[in-house]
Amino acid sequence: MTTGAPLASETAFRAVANPLAASLAVEPAPVAEVLDFHRRLPGYEPTPLLSVPAMAARLGVRSLLFKCESERFGLPAFKMLGASWAVYRSLCERLGGDLESWEDVEELSAAVKGLLPFRLAAATDGNHGRAVARMAGLLGFSARIFVPAGTSAGRIAGIEKEGAEVVVVAGGYDLAVESSAGEEGPHCAVISDTSWPGYTAVPRWVIEGYSTLFAEIDQALASRRRQWPDVLVVPIGVGALAAAAVVHLASGIGRKRPTAILGVEPFGSACVTESALRGGIVTLEGEQHSIMAGLNCGTPSLVAWPLVSTGVAGFITIGDEWARRAVRELAAAGIEAGETGAAGLAGLDAMRLQPASSALELLLGEDSEVLVLVTEGASDREAWRQILGVEAVGPAS
Ligand SMILES: Cc1ncc(COP(=O)(O)O)c(C=O)c1O
Repeated sequence: MTTGAPLASETAFRAVANPLAASLAVEPAPVAEVLDFHRRLPGYEPTPLLSVPAMAARLGVRSLLFKCESERFGLPAFKMLGASWAVYRSLCERLGGDLESWEDVEELSAAVKGLLPFRLAAATDGNHGRAVARMAGLLGFSARIFVPAGTSAGRIAGIEKEGAEVVVVAGGYDLAVESSAGEEGPHCAVISDTSWPGYTAVPRWVIEGYSTLFAEIDQALASRRRQWPDVLVVPIGVGALAAAAVVHLASGIGRKRPTAILGVEPFGSACVTESALRGGIVTLEGEQHSIMAGLNCGTPSLVAWPLVSTGVAGFITIGDEWARRAVRELAAAGIEAGETGAAGLAGLDAMRLQPASSALELLLGEDSEVLVLVTEGASDREAWRQILGVEAVGPAS
């Protein structure tokens, strides 16, 4: 539902400090290697880091930056960064070590053709599966992508457009994950961005793959002679992206001041927040139905959890109306973002407009510099059109 008066629950908001927050030593990601890999894929370009002084003034902070993933490798989300690296590393593993040197994706697909016939499988709320399907197409493989019941027609069409078979499961995201897991075999690799007992290597590579996004931020800030901001706001689904942020910031060399990470989740699928409050991983009951589709997850990723549970300073939980509002505000600033992509701004907005008693308020004052990850463009164009009343122009679904 996107029209009419918002339900009270849709305007709800909660911010909590992370009771498990602690300093941690992390293994740095192989940033140079990952970036070198991404640069050899077709269409690689760093995404923009935009400064929006007018919005900073409205929110009452000193500065506000958006890292905009509206278009990444021609797809409307950041997800290809993790999916492509995880596929590559999985193939290296299957072929018994590093692949011989290759310059472009044609050479890479020639190097892996001994695996044919070969399939990639994944579960998704939309963006990750579409990225896995794109990777399969680039390498001459087929793809089977599992989506939760109720996934929008636009998202399914987007995955099918990549040449993949889409399987709609009779349940939520967690069931889609379970269904995809059974596909692993000699002719099929499961490329999941979440992890469970016994399945940890691939989701670790997904997290590593996201390091390019943070390396690009390093470079953009350095070229402007700026330090990392005080606060980084990240939307959280299973926690892989937030885990990559934790790794990057914890292993940062030469950073002069700490950056606090705030995670944003929708009500009904705040599995990382709930897990942090209960002191360990929990699975939420029932299915998740937020319009922030990429965040509709019921269980944190096993490999992301140790990083996210200690490295994130606090969690913001929001109702869907905050996301619609943020989609509109970003569009007015010329940034095309879907509901999931806008969740970071939505969480920040909720915190600034509804000052609560949370200790987190201290992080966001008039001297604060804030960076928000806008992780997605109009990945569901029909949903975007319903919120804005006009057509999106970014990568089509
Ligand atoms: C656009 C977008 N943003 C953020 C996320 C959250 O990432 P993670 O599941 O790694 O927490 C997702 C996950 O699918 C997504 O699609």
